Amino acid sequence: MAKQNAVVTGYGFYAPSRVVTNLDLEKMGVGTSDEWITTRTGIKERRFASDGETTSTMATRAARIALERARLRPQDLDLVVLGTCSPDYLFPATACLVQTALGAERAGAFDVEAACTSFVSALAIANGMILAGSARNALVIGAECLSHLLDLKDRTTCVLFGDGAGAVVLEASNASVGVESAVLHADGSKGDLLWVEGGGSRVPATNETVAQGKHFIRMQGGETFKLAVKSMADAAEEALAEAGVTADDIDIMIPHQANVRIIDAVVKRLKFPEEKVFVNIQRYGNTSAASIPIAIAEAAEQGRLKKGDRVLLVAFGGGFTWGASVMEWWGVPIPDRREKTIVERAARTVEDVLDKVRP
Ligand SMILES: CC(C)(COP(=O)(O)OP(=O)(O)OC[C@H]1O[C@@H](n2cnc3c(N)ncnc32)[C@H](O)[C@@H]1OP(=O)(O)O)[C@@H](O)C(=O)NCCC(=O)NCCS
Repeated sequence: MAKQNAVVTGYGFYAPSRVVTNLDLEKMGVGTSDEWITTRTGIKERRFASDGETTSTMATRAARIALERARLRPQDLDLVVLGTCSPDYLFPATACLVQTALGAERAGAFDVEAACTSFVSALAIANGMILAGSARNALVIGAECLSHLLDLKDRTTCVLFGDGAGAVVLEASNASVGVESAVLHADGSKGDLLWVEGGGSRVPATNETVAQGKHFIRMQGGETFKLAVKSMADAAEEALAEAGVTADDIDIMIPHQANVRIIDAVVKRLKFPEEKVFVNIQRYGNTSAASIPIAIAEAAEQGRLKKGDRVLLVAFGGGFTWGASVMEWWGVPIPDRREKTIVERAARTVEDVLDKVRP
């Protein structure tokens, strides 16, 4: 059998409709201002989940769009892997909720938790399974409902984060394109610089821990900033080297959207042309695991990702964790499979209609 590559054949994102502007936060009296948030972070607004929306519901919406674009049925999926640090439950995995909502009855499903590096980690796992031949069709999702973990009285965190979901379909293909490298790193000794301390097995939920606000995101911003810049630049260089390419070969860089100043500093360190960097943090804030797949989907929808483009993804997050990946963009369904699926779908539609009219 010819060597298989893992190729993105579909992408989609979902952003909740509830827009929270900097001015909205200013009015809440948390001691912040549009001016402070804009100049320190580049964020102008973010989305917060509406009542009833959770990580799994947003992930399912993004996943449906990605599957539709890939012309793939949920039943064709072998794997649903979902990156998040704001799962619906400690367990079962949010990926299982998505798997059942989609009707991906053949698929294995599990979550990956590496905070803002979760999507790049999930992509690395799915890529590895496809290269190893143990999966052909994988749904890779990054989704977060961070607004439910925010202390709206803590101005050092509540202005930074937002909710949303993004997904890609990754398929085995004989095409010579696909994921070319994936590197992951971690330093667990700095875990408490950005964390949610309560609610797990070390600090189980009690009235006291809830009263102390231990179930909210807490962060040492300054230290996180410095480590993010160095780690993202290092990971990008490593992923480029592993793929056997240089920064000149990259058509678009899609970094984790945590702070526009972090992105600027990484870009300067890499001496990377600014016009090749995709930034949408102004509209979504930091959506953690969702930021890169949302940005992939938006970049593709805006025509900034074209077939044959070489893409650099780079992320940093709590843990600390960081990683990067280089891929050649395919982004459209594999032609022979697409024809077949359309025929199958038409057949199913006729069957569906017959089912309804049969006495
Ligand atoms: C959080 C961050 C924007 C703060 O920017 P900064 O320039 O480092 O600001 P500082 O932390 O030095 O704080 C400066 C002052 O602004 C205050 N401040 C913090 N948040 C504020 C807010 N939302 N509005 C107004 N003032 C605020 C601080 O309390 C501090 O006041 P003080 O000097 O009286 O103590 C920045 O550190 C950052 O982006 N860090 C990385 C965060 C991140 O990306 N995390 C996720 C990684 S995936």
